[in-house]
Amino acid sequence: MIDALRDHIDRVKAQPLKALARARLGQAAFSAAGWTADLTRHRLDGRADEALVSWGGAQGIPGAIRALFDGGTVNPSENRPALHWALRAPTDAGPALSGDPAAVRASLDAPIAFAAAIRDGTVTASDGAPFSAIVHIGIGGSDFGPRLIADAFQAEASTAFELRFAANLDPLDLDLALRGLDPARTLVIGVSKSFGTEETLYNLGRARAWLSGSLGEGANHHLALVTANPERARAWAETGAEGGSAPHLFDMPLSVGGRFSLWSAASLACFITLGEEAIRRFLAGAADMDAHVRTAPMDDNLAARLALLDVWNTSALGFPMRVVLAYARRLRFLPTYLQQLEMESNGKSARPDGTPAPLPTAPAVWGGEGSIGQHSYHQWLHQGTQPVPAEFIIALDRGGDPEGKRALMAHALAQAEVLANGRSLDEVRSEEPGLPDAVARQKVHAGGRPSTILSCDAFDAAKLGALIALYEHRTYLAGVLWGLNSFDQWGVERGKTMAARLQPVLTGTSEAEDPITAALADRLRKGL
Ligand code: F6P
Repeated sequence: MIDALRDHIDRVKAQPLKALARARLGQAAFSAAGWTADLTRHRLDGRADEALVSWGGAQGIPGAIRALFDGGTVNPSENRPALHWALRAPTDAGPALSGDPAAVRASLDAPIAFAAAIRDGTVTASDGAPFSAIVHIGIGGSDFGPRLIADAFQAEASTAFELRFAANLDPLDLDLALRGLDPARTLVIGVSKSFGTEETLYNLGRARAWLSGSLGEGANHHLALVTANPERARAWAETGAEGGSAPHLFDMPLSVGGRFSLWSAASLACFITLGEEAIRRFLAGAADMDAHVRTAPMDDNLAARLALLDVWNTSALGFPMRVVLAYARRLRFLPTYLQQLEMESNGKSARPDGTPAPLPTAPAVWGGEGSIGQHSYHQWLHQGTQPVPAEFIIALDRGGDPEGKRALMAHALAQAEVLANGRSLDEVRSEEPGLPDAVARQKVHAGGRPSTILSCDAFDAAKLGALIALYEHRTYLAGVLWGLNSFDQWGVERGKTMAARLQPVLTGTSEAEDPITAALADRLRKGL
């Protein structure tokens, strides 16, 4: 890639971002499914852009899009397709589904019906009264997505249910989730695709004991388990249960990756608190984005464009990070969600055949809520020594006080402009005459910091669905460009294995092999 584009890279690196952007005004905004990505302020000119898109075509982007939506084996290490798109495939439009994709879409029927029954009181707590609290237990892709949806639409959620989340091994996490709740009124939803994740099994075990302590054999009626491994879930439910009915079981299809699973029964808690209509809109918004990505030509394809830009910024221009600035309270958890989606998908250095990835791969993704970040890390963004591309997400709410919305937008636009254009010493001196030279120099902004503006108006469940689908496709296509399998995660296994070895070290029943770990364990064990 680099060789084919070297001249372009050198040319655009040598020009001020301000000039490159001015030249691209009106030519670098792309829209789909209610979203617009404005890529004007990036280190590209017409020729480089054209060469990059052409390179993307040569790298197989169009074929990769077809393979995904044809149910091809895009996850070679696990010999699976990636069918998260099938969960939201419309029944009345687009290509008819059959086989696995149809079964994946059908996996939503039971959880949506169950959620409706909980809402209308057809399914009650074991004593016949309605449920009034839901505790979602899961971690990673079994937590970030449902938590993002629940937080985004907290204002619209039914007040009939108190929704809590617990993910971490720190016992305080579950303690706080259960604090003040009545087991007799509480539904515990355990989400684990593998049904083998230590954190989730630990928290589920404690939550079941909390239920059993009050409900006895009625506990299982207050348990819903969502997994791709029902046998393991049933075995868990039978051990330690005090008789009574089996828990409610819902399917997470094996062909839907954990970090791509928020469309599935994994979000059962949100199905209950938000209701079927909102969930259907969420799915429909994603389906709109799918239709765009599936059919749009490369140079107009939002996901392909953003994937190419990720590779351009990281692998060609050498930016090792991207900061996501969500200028919307509803999207404050989006940067955290994207960290798993993008970094667990493409934070890799080996291709599926085991050979080294030929380019620097996924950037570190971090960020937070705007304008709050302006009172934290924006100093670093503006005057730090390591420029990074910024991604502003501007999701204008339908309602809300116009003055606050206007001020928030003004900050987002201002931040992007200052990052790109900077502030020269001459400007400082002319705007603030008489400043001591040392202070004037400290007020200089180097500028030249690229940014994307992803924006929509009338934000709602459909816009959230479209946005997340866009990020899923962008992540997959960036992985294709980096030569990676974006759907496995071998890198998380070693740490888990090592942790299992170190637990007996912390109980003093075995020695750590690593001397530094042994010394640390000795010190920490005293505090347990
Ligand atoms: O982080 C590793 C991982 O396997 C993620 O890919 C996954 O989302 C998370 O752990 C939880 O896995 P499970 O849903 O199987 O409990």
